[in-house]
This record gives sequence, structure tokens and C-alpha cells, in this order.
Amino acid sequence: MAGCRSWVFFYTVCAVSVFGANAEIKVSTPVGKLFTYELMRETFQNDFEPLSKLYAGRLYDDPMIFKCNRQNYPDLPEWLRFTQRQPYDNGFLYGTPTSAGKHIIEIYAVNKRSYETARHILVIRVTAQDMLPYQAEFFIKLREIERVLPSSVQDEIKQDLQKLWNTEALEIVNITNALDRGGRVPLPLAGHFEGVYVKVGSEEYFSDCLLRVLTPEHQKQCTAGARVKSPGGCNFCRIPSNCITWCKTELFDLKKQEPTPPAPTMGSGILEDGGDFDPPESPPSRDYFPDYIVTVIVPLILAIILCLLLAYIMYGRREGVAKRNARTNQIQLYHHYTIHDNTDELRNMAGNRGAPPPLSTLPMFNSRTLERAPPPRYDSPVPLIMAQHDPYCETLPRK
Ligand SMILES: *[C@@H]1O[C@H](CO)[C@@H](O)[C@H](O)[C@H]1NC(C)=O
Repeated sequence: MAGCRSWVFFYTVCAVSVFGANAEIKVSTPVGKLFTYELMRETFQNDFEPLSKLYAGRLYDDPMIFKCNRQNYPDLPEWLRFTQRQPYDNGFLYGTPTSAGKHIIEIYAVNKRSYETARHILVIRVTAQDMLPYQAEFFIKLREIERVLPSSVQDEIKQDLQKLWNTEALEIVNITNALDRGGRVPLPLAGHFEGVYVKVGSEEYFSDCLLRVLTPEHQKQCTAGARVKSPGGCNFCRIPSNCITWCKTELFDLKKQEPTPPAPTMGSGILEDGGDFDPPESPPSRDYFPDYIVTVIVPLILAIILCLLLAYIMYGRREGVAKRNARTNQIQLYHHYTIHDNTDELRNMAGNRGAPPPLSTLPMFNSRTLERAPPPRYDSPVPLIMAQHDPYCETLPRK
């Protein structure tokens, strides 16, 4: 008997460990109401280090990021959104289902310390239900989506709105980040928030307080851009950060929707006879000559004049090289030619390796016979320019 019991216990442990590894979390939610599921980091932490707490007595608080998608699909169902502010915060899956059905969501958690991953499966069963007929949307300026999604905060907001609506039968229909609706990213300063839209719905008709939103004077005040206070006796927010912005309040009466347009009537499928085709008359002819003159001839004449002007400046007013040389100072001209010579010499040397070394690196020599002179005598100053061999130096001024 005792042996049998221990076997049963053994099988139970095996079954739990086998099925526990692929644990599915099942939740159910009706159509048209806000669904929120918090991805607790603690839960995943236990998957990563299941025994460290028990045996090593260590408690980790690792940063984690989550990736969620529909099973066998790359992303989430259309109505479901995921948000997590930073790796040390819990993540949230939230959204409002619009049709009944079953969604299998895979949640991968990546531990940013050890880079281990864990997978959970979330099965969301959406049950059919009618939409709430009266809905109202409020804008809460001093909130961020992650701070509103925890159920305690949702309850606080709901309680305030229940008082405003004057009914207990109130459900949160949708919560949206204002950034998803074209809001601005706030400055990273204290007191600046992204803002959140909260939509609630009820079976009861709107309260008098809510109906004041529709009055012309309220709308006039709002369009004038004044800071509109809550209408008298209608301020029910106990926590300042949950207060609504009155001018952005919108009421939706789903019962009073415009009738759907009648379906188009079907014809026989054959077009009616419209007579023979009558081609239009060709338009009256037009004289294009003035346009041609303005667009082609005038620019052409201008271009030719410019060409002639440029040609005269470039060619007609040049003085010859001989004339210029005759006017130039001789020593300046000589300097000019030596620069040319040296440049040619350097170019030759760059062209091939076997080029003779530049003459200026050799000791003094006779450039006509290439005969080396004896090493210089340092008692007399060495002339820098060997004037007697150079045709240009005949004219050099001698001192
Ligand atoms: C909830 O809000 C989101 C974002 O504005 C929108 O796309 C979605 O249609 C809304 N759902 C319902 C049921 O109103």
C-alpha cells in the first residue's frame, strides 16, 4: 500500500514537471471590454533560477525583456498590444477584442543578465457579448500607459468615472497611449507625461455632468483654448493624476448610429444604347511663331553674342609671348626658366628609376663637358650660378 502511494506520488511529480514546463495559462475575456494581462517578472525569474532561492539562498532581480506573438505568426493579433517601459518593469498585454474566438499567444522572456530565455503560453478565449451602447472617452493628461494598466489604478479611475456617470454599471472599454493617437513625446522632465485615453461604456444613459460636454457654451470655451475647469459639481477626481481633461471628453451613443446606406440596385449588366460615337472637332489652329521667337531665337542670339564677347576677350586681346618676355625684367625671367628646368628634371626622375641624379647634387662641374671640378676650396665663396655657361645670364646685371 505504501509502495503504491509512493508510485502515485512519483507519477504526479513527473506529470507536473512534464506539463509544467509547457504550462498554458488560460484566460477568458468578453468582446468589447478591456483585456489586461500583466507579465510578472517574478514568475519568469522562478523559471530562470528555480532552485537558487531554495539552496543558495540568493534572490535575483534580473532585467528582462519580453517578446510576444501569436503562435505560428510573427506578431500579435490586431487588437492586442504589448508594452513594457524598461527591463526592470513588468510587461503588459492589453487591448479590446472585437470578435469572439481563441488566441494562443507565445510569450518569450529574455533574461538580460544571463541571456537565458523562457517561454510561456497564454490562451485567450474571447466570448461573444454585445458592445455597451453608451460609451465615453476621457483623456488623462498626467498618466502613462504602464502606470494605468495595473488593475488597482484601473479601479481608481473607474471609481471616479462611476461617480461622474452616476452609475455602478460601468466597464473600461479601451485604454490607449496618447502617443499612439498622434500625441507628442514629452520632455524628459518631471511633471511631463505621455497621457492616456480611457474609454468606458455602460448600459445606462449619460449623466447630466457628461451631457454638459455637448452644450454649445462648453464647446465654445474649448475652441477658444481657455483652460476649462470641470463644470460645477462634476469634479470627482480624488487623485490629481487621475483627473480628466474636460475638453478632450467625447461621448459615443452607439444606439443612435446613422442607418446603413441602402444596398446598390443590380442592373441587367448591359450598358444602355447611347448612339454613335461623335468625335470632337479639332481645335482652331494657333500661331506658334511668337512663342518660337521668344523661347528659341532670343536665347540663341544672346548665346552667340556672349560667345563673340568671350572669344574677343580670350583671343583678340592677347599680347605675344615675345612681347611679354621683352618687357619682363631679365632676372625675373631667368628665375622663371630655372623653375621650369628644375621641374622637368624632377619629372624625368619620377618617370624612370635609372635617371641620372640631378646635377645640383653633384659637386661643381662643367655642364658642357660634364667634367668634374676639383673639390671646392672653401677659402673663396662658391658662386651659386655658373654664369659663363648660361645663355640667360649674359644680360644679368653684374656688380
Ligand atoms: C482601442 O483603441 C485603439 C487605439 O486607439 C483602437 O485601434 C481600437 O480600435 C480601440 N478598440 C475599440 C474596441 O474601441
